[in-house]
Amino acid sequence: MKGGGLLKLTRTNLFFMFIILIFTTLIIWARERTPLVTPFQPSLEHFDVLSPEYARPQLSVEDDSSVLGKLRNSLSEDAEATIGTPSVEISTPSSTEREKVNEDLKEDLTASESEKEHEDLKKDLRATDSEKEHENLEKDLPLKKDCNFAKGKWIKDKKRPLYSGFGCQRWLSEMWACRVMKRPDFSYENFRWKPENCEMPEFTGHEFLKRMRHKTIAFVGDSLGRQQFQSLMCMVTGGKTSLPVEDSGREFGLVKARGAIRPNGWAYRFPSSNTTILFYWSASLCELQPLNKSNPATYYAMHLDRPVTFLKQFLDRFDVLILNTGHHWNRGKFKTNRWEMYVNGTPNTNKRLAAIGNAKNLTIYSIAKWLDSELLRRPKLKAFFRTLSPRHFVNGDWNTGGSCDNTVPLAGGSEVVQDGSSDIVTAGAVNGTRVKILDITALSQLRDEAHISKYSAKSLKGVHDCLHWCLPGVPDAWNEILFAQL
Ligand SMILES: *[C@@H]1O[C@H](CO)[C@@H](O)[C@H](O)[C@H]1NC(C)=O
Ligand SMILES: *[C@@H]1O[C@H](CO)[C@@H](O)[C@H](O)[C@H]1NC(C)=O
Ligand SMILES: *[C@@H]1O[C@H](CO)[C@@H](O)[C@H](O)[C@H]1NC(C)=O
Ligand SMILES: *[C@@H]1O[C@H](CO)[C@@H](O)[C@H](O)[C@H]1NC(C)=O
Repeated sequence: MKGGGLLKLTRTNLFFMFIILIFTTLIIWARERTPLVTPFQPSLEHFDVLSPEYARPQLSVEDDSSVLGKLRNSLSEDAEATIGTPSVEISTPSSTEREKVNEDLKEDLTASESEKEHEDLKKDLRATDSEKEHENLEKDLPLKKDCNFAKGKWIKDKKRPLYSGFGCQRWLSEMWACRVMKRPDFSYENFRWKPENCEMPEFTGHEFLKRMRHKTIAFVGDSLGRQQFQSLMCMVTGGKTSLPVEDSGREFGLVKARGAIRPNGWAYRFPSSNTTILFYWSASLCELQPLNKSNPATYYAMHLDRPVTFLKQFLDRFDVLILNTGHHWNRGKFKTNRWEMYVNGTPNTNKRLAAIGNAKNLTIYSIAKWLDSELLRRPKLKAFFRTLSPRHFVNGDWNTGGSCDNTVPLAGGSEVVQDGSSDIVTAGAVNGTRVKILDITALSQLRDEAHISKYSAKSLKGVHDCLHWCLPGVPDAWNEILFAQL
């Protein structure tokens, strides 16, 4: 009978499909247990690691020991973001006690080695099932996918901040810890971001590590990326030092080069969940190539259309990637960093690109395009392009007496009502790609009171920092939005 034959065929097919599925699962599982580790080749990347910002103390960006250097470099930014003077007055939330969130992360550590392995094994074997469930769940809840995390409002919340600004000394730079500076007002700490159309999961270090088990989260970008990285380290640990964390910088070549003030980045591993969080310094995200390797004062070919070598080298190791750039795209930075624009491997001759805004646009589009093609082969990687962090200098720029003296939270409004991003370059570059947008521009624009302002411990007279944020503070919300999308 026809029907019987068909049925037989289907059964045979099913049987083979089942065999193939089992083999595929076994192969994937085996590969995950013994990954093809990228060999660490420091010599090849010598000059990439020795990027101009870190190689020469006199040109260092944010050199803690050089006040002038630090301020000059961290504040000399282009005038991409501007803010109007706040006009609407709202009530000032009072400073409240910070409640320390006590996360019990030790339970993971107390499990015996064999128990742990067993657990891991079970988890790996279950992976396909739970992934399927996850997929179905997402289909049933279109809200999560359609949710625009950038549209919503700031809400006063006594459960913020998620860590104490007095703590987290291992990861939080002193220059960004406003609690240990002279700043007297801290109302900016007690806010949470609430997107209009989606629920935000409550962030806990425990939940984060659970979800990021065996995963590596990489931030690549400038000092604002470093702020987000420090913020995440503090959020995950709750600012406490009791949690065991290993320095795993060496695995990623993040070691201090000779003559450098600091390494090009940091990597930390939480042994309880085998989660790694890292930051790599790349202000422009471009590949930089010294034009004369034997000259310590060499200029660098800044390849506008090539991603920084670190990304190409370690992309296979990342599960989550967050890129950012923006505040180094100005004449001053190009000059001090000795960057020379290159396109297609040759010095740029295109007059249009010589305008720095256009060069930045080319780089952001190039990197998004490159990442998109890489994501095709790495379906497990989640890549985000974080949008521009706004500056709030009023009545001048960083070096002409500009300031951000307002201390009243949300004086200019608490809500973002627009649908699109304020950062049209980043939004346009990721549009239609597999790269997700981490859109924090408009919501951060509402927080002019939350910068370091005049309270920098080492600030020069009259120089205010209206670019970097106090921590704990606004970048914590960026990480909560990130967490909601993981
Ligand atoms: C930790 O995670 C990495 C993947 O990020 C994996 O290769 C490694 O085997 C894991 N280590 C342990 C002890 O499970
Ligand atoms: C490279 O720099 C070295 C040291 O400053 C100099 O002697 C040499 O002439 C330079 N080479 C080129 C090709 O410019
Ligand atoms: C940026 O580059 C893209 C791709 O080349 C182009 O479509 C867009 O118009 C550019 N935007 C600006 C602001 O230059
Ligand atoms: C994204 O692309 C679509 C289709 O090309 C276009 O209609 C839309 O305006 C773009 N959005 C942004 C933010 O560039």
